[in-house]
Amino acid sequence: MRRDNSATATYNPAMAENIQVKLGERAYAVHVGRGLDGFSAVVPDCTARVIVTDQTVGRLYGQQFSQLLNARVITVPAGEDSKSLRQLESVFAQLLAPRDLVRQSVIIALGGGVIGDLAGFAAATLYRGVRYIQVPTTLLAMVDSSVGGKTAINHIAGKNLIGAFHQPHAVWCDIAFLETLPVREYVSGLAEVVKTAAIGSAALFATLEQEVSAILARNDAVVTRIIADCVRFKAAVVEQDELETTGRRAMLNFGHTLGHALENLYPGRWLHGEAVAIGMVAALRLSVERAALDPGVAERVVRLLQALGLPTNVPAELDAEAAAAVMLGDKKRGGAAVGFVLLKALGEPVVQPCTVDSSLLRTLMGPRDERT
Ligand SMILES: NC(=O)c1ccc[n+]([C@@H]2O[C@H](COP(=O)([O-])OP(=O)(O)OC[C@H]3O[C@@H](n4cnc5c(N)ncnc54)[C@H](O)[C@@H]3O)[C@@H](O)[C@H]2O)c1
Repeated sequence: MRRDNSATATYNPAMAENIQVKLGERAYAVHVGRGLDGFSAVVPDCTARVIVTDQTVGRLYGQQFSQLLNARVITVPAGEDSKSLRQLESVFAQLLAPRDLVRQSVIIALGGGVIGDLAGFAAATLYRGVRYIQVPTTLLAMVDSSVGGKTAINHIAGKNLIGAFHQPHAVWCDIAFLETLPVREYVSGLAEVVKTAAIGSAALFATLEQEVSAILARNDAVVTRIIADCVRFKAAVVEQDELETTGRRAMLNFGHTLGHALENLYPGRWLHGEAVAIGMVAALRLSVERAALDPGVAERVVRLLQALGLPTNVPAELDAEAAAAVMLGDKKRGGAAVGFVLLKALGEPVVQPCTVDSSLLRTLMGPRDERT
């Protein structure tokens, strides 16, 4: 495999990677590269193929994929609200009405994490499970949500509460999709890249620091390498803990505890990665205090997030008590503990139960950002 550290490296097809997710009979390959050469070959021959996408992605790429795969297209509105029982019902109606689908049929999830989660859940439950292929079109979906088999929709009682583990048949990350992705969405996806490096690999972290401008310029060679590194890490975690029972998969929640509270208290205000970036910085403060993380390392992570254009301060208006209530969920307030993912060092995460009290909240909140 070629490794080129130059930010000006030009992409060539040999840089494409196929990463195996080794899960026995549920094993699959994740392709990372530019273009669709070889894509048709990973889509099984079957009587019916259906593409599920959102209106934005559908407008850009729906026709091309429909022709390429000889598949019909189901379109839902773009955005988180489509991860709903209502949209699921509409997707089922459109899947079932033409009566062309059988258990051997294939669903293609063409879109970001919302489509991957919605179409994946539909695939998990239709006829007790049909095959689906993830074709992620956002950076977040490429580096995180398309790999690992978690599918879900939201409920009024909370995010991702109705779901299933259902591994895809294949994942195809074509970095050409990133050309049309809005800057804010791209940068939001970079938060999950930084998260992966922080919990998984000091070497990847150093690469990110070196390649900030190439990353922001969406340099093909650099982006391909980084996505492949993130997928490799996620695949290894999923192989060790497919159904989130051994605790290994919980490490992926670094930055997500406070991040989820922000998303929950201000729906629609923060993109997922933005909330996670703020949550990671809060978790880093806690790591310095309680997991002996070198403050210099914490500072490096903050500097990298800032260089990539991500927010790092908890907004001034966030009420610490309200955040505590969300983080505790159903648990009784006062004295209850939350498992925080902390860092001992780059690549060394640890889950630590922390009592949610005023001292913890003071550390988490840190310096407030008056601008947000
Ligand atoms: N299953 C998992 O393991 C997992 C992990 C992390 C996140 N998630 C879920 O992922 C979702 C967030 O995913 P997301 O950030 O990809 O959001 P998203 O799917 O809503 O996509 C973001 C926006 O970008 C648009 N878009 C997508 N691809 C585009 C492209 N190539 N060009 C132009 N526009 C494009 C979409 O239409 C949408 O408006 C959340 O619901 C989250 O819960 C799931």
